[in-house]
Amino acid sequence: MRVLVTGGAGYIGSHTTLALLKEGHDVLVVDDLSNSSVESLHRVAELAGREAGFVEANVRDEAALDAAFADFTPEAVIHFAGWKAVGESTQIPLVYYRENLGSTITLLEVMAQHGCRSIVFSSSATVYGELSEPPFTEDAPTGATNPYGRTKHMIEQILADVAAADDQLRVAVLRYFNPIGADESGRIGEDPKGIPNNLLPFVAQVAAGRREKLMVFGDDYPTPDGTGTRDYIHVVDLAAGHLAALGHLQDHDGYHVWNLGTGQPSSVLDIVHAFEKASGVTIPYEVAPRRPGDVASSFADPKLAQTELGWRAELSVEQACADTHRWQAANPNGFADA
Ligand code: NAD
Ligand code: WQD
Repeated sequence: MRVLVTGGAGYIGSHTTLALLKEGHDVLVVDDLSNSSVESLHRVAELAGREAGFVEANVRDEAALDAAFADFTPEAVIHFAGWKAVGESTQIPLVYYRENLGSTITLLEVMAQHGCRSIVFSSSATVYGELSEPPFTEDAPTGATNPYGRTKHMIEQILADVAAADDQLRVAVLRYFNPIGADESGRIGEDPKGIPNNLLPFVAQVAAGRREKLMVFGDDYPTPDGTGTRDYIHVVDLAAGHLAALGHLQDHDGYHVWNLGTGQPSSVLDIVHAFEKASGVTIPYEVAPRRPGDVASSFADPKLAQTELGWRAELSVEQACADTHRWQAANPNGFADA
């Protein structure tokens, strides 16, 4: 297939682009590089032995997107492009609404103009909020507690409305749990700007000596060891989930929602210990107060994706820690080292 990938230079997008190229699909990436480096795509080409096309543009730029569609004639789109930092979204909410909603609306309009009828969208387990208890099934109540999460929730609703109005549109909403890890080559990986917000990149930077110690946000949650538990999913498994969803859309109409998670919760301390084992490095940590907005526990019921897509997460947290460590050790400053 010809697949247009928005945000394909980013963390999950680069791993998915690699998986698409390896499976023989043709890929055109549209990315404004606002949170990534084109070096990721050079490395994807090196790993795949063939390149994805690349257009440097904001997905809100209708003229650029129209030209990309006219030139590449994609049969499907995977839409990763978006801003994703929860804390930042509370500071600059309008930027989040503009970038995340604006890009999706422009993309859907241009897809319709070009007769492109299949879209896979990056949603998030954040839409489950605190409205029910995990494990979350796809029909659990949804909402959001911050502007970033609201953009994901609103985009899901927009996609459902557009699919209801157009019986040829095929939509896969993928709710990712906590993506971690890197391609096992150590050539591509997560490259956050500044101080990482997420646990794994922070732990990896402590292991690499870039940061002194990890702050563990709360050890008094109602979980087995008192620290927050999450469903950490290897990014290579996540990438495979996109290919499975794309395949499903080839012969299924309508609007679909699937969780992409493992179903297995790990605590912050489980991750610290798994990383220590994988890297052979001790991770100094200190317990700090809970981080505002955090939930005690979040993990998927992954059965629907197993039954409908034939997809399940295969790789362990230990494997993800080893892969993250390999990436971080070989690229202490991420793609800036290139
Ligand atoms: P990322 O920041 O590494 O990748 C996003 C990419 O989109 C970047 O390359 C960025 O430059 C690009 N981009 C952003 N806005 C754009 C725009 N308007 N036009 C063109 N390009 C734009 O993030 P990621 O972790 O790879 O996440 C990919 C998607 O998955 C995002 O939509 C994110 O919200 C979603 N998601 C991520 C996580 C996570 O923990 N990483 C969890 C759930 C959902
Ligand atoms: C995981 C656990 C922290 C950092 C976020 C977004 C969510 C989704 C994924 C996009 C929690 C603890 C963390 C640290 C710590 N993104 N922690 N010290 O909060 O589950 O999810 O990323 O959609 O929307 O909210 O992930 O990696 O930030 O935290 O103790 O320095 O690690 O308290 O228990 P989170 P995270």
